[in-house]
Amino acid sequence: MITILPALRGVMTSDGRLPRLRVAAAPAGAAALRVPAWETPAALVVALRAGVPAGARQVCLDGVGSITAEYSDLPGRAAGKIALVTGAAQGFGCEIAADLAAQGAWVALADVNEAGAAAAAQRINATCGREAAIGVAINVTDPAAVKACVTAVVSQFGGIDLLVANAGVLRAGSVKTLPAADFDFVTSVNYKGYFLCVQAVAPAMALQHLACPEAWSDIVQINSKSGLQGSNRNGAYAGSKFGGVGLTQSFAMELVDDGIKVNAICPGNFFDGPLWSDPQNGLFAQYLRTGKVPGAKTVAEVRRFYEAKVPMGRGCTTPDVMRAIYYLMEQRYETGQALPVTGGQVMLA
Ligand SMILES: NC(=O)c1ccc[n+]([C@@H]2O[C@H](COP(=O)([O-])OP(=O)(O)OC[C@H]3O[C@@H](n4cnc5c(N)ncnc54)[C@H](O)[C@@H]3O)[C@@H](O)[C@H]2O)c1
Repeated sequence: MITILPALRGVMTSDGRLPRLRVAAAPAGAAALRVPAWETPAALVVALRAGVPAGARQVCLDGVGSITAEYSDLPGRAAGKIALVTGAAQGFGCEIAADLAAQGAWVALADVNEAGAAAAAQRINATCGREAAIGVAINVTDPAAVKACVTAVVSQFGGIDLLVANAGVLRAGSVKTLPAADFDFVTSVNYKGYFLCVQAVAPAMALQHLACPEAWSDIVQINSKSGLQGSNRNGAYAGSKFGGVGLTQSFAMELVDDGIKVNAICPGNFFDGPLWSDPQNGLFAQYLRTGKVPGAKTVAEVRRFYEAKVPMGRGCTTPDVMRAIYYLMEQRYETGQALPVTGGQVMLA
């Protein structure tokens, strides 16, 4: 399934557009195409091309079922794209998924908080008035869970055009005292988790491109300004994000042959998100309690202190990040970049 469907998307392309595939039980007695065992992805594509008539919108495959190709006629900058967003139950990931759906994509919201991802997907569907989103379980640190998530997305939609590797965690602390377990936790989610997600989606994306060379896919890591500049008493996080830039550049070099662009976006602080603004555990509330900002007596004063560090005088928002995501998706001549979206707080040389 995870191999056949992405290859079939490429074979059933129309004007260079890949369809979404819907799989249903084959009607009783329907003639089904038997795909012979294949040794290489190229052999699979050849076998599918030989068996699927040009222009066919529906095909019965032995052992898979009846597969219908659906070409999106929705407007929008992500129209007809199939996207997987990790860490999508809340925060940036949730808002990125909602924006992609509003721009015409089919979106899988994946999160270790499975119930939160499912609830967010339902809200998106209600807003869009169509079945645009699904919630899927994932733990990005667990190879089996990542594979199962990608299999679920491919089974539901037929393939993947965009991975937004957004799941991330932060445990701040001095190098002198941070428990090694906290360092491992941050590294496993932010660094290893990114590797595992790319490893799981790249074969499906490569098959789509093999079958339809005009079709390119995108991997976008939500990195951080702390992936471009060290972060005081926050070395585990900054190190994991710097590592993410190294993975991005390396994956970009390798996966360009498979029609996959790999880029990172490095946002500044998302002050409106739960990490900063949660009334109990948010960083503003924590910094007020611990007196980290000298003289600040309210959360608003702590916030103003941090906003004043940004040349543009405000935090990063999801619309700022979305402009970067759509730029990278639409760009035909860029890969391996780490794009700052920081209001001027971090500037590239
Ligand atoms: N908040 C900021 O100021 C800020 C700034 C720059 C970059 N970022 C980056 O943006 C991304 C999202 O940040 P956010 O502030 O929206 O975070 P958040 O804490 O609000 O949300 C993170 C989501 O990731 C999920 N998650 C955590 N561990 C996971 C795992 N092992 N597998 C799957 N899902 C997991 C959580 O359940 C949660 O839903 C992160 O990569 C973060 O480093 C955040």
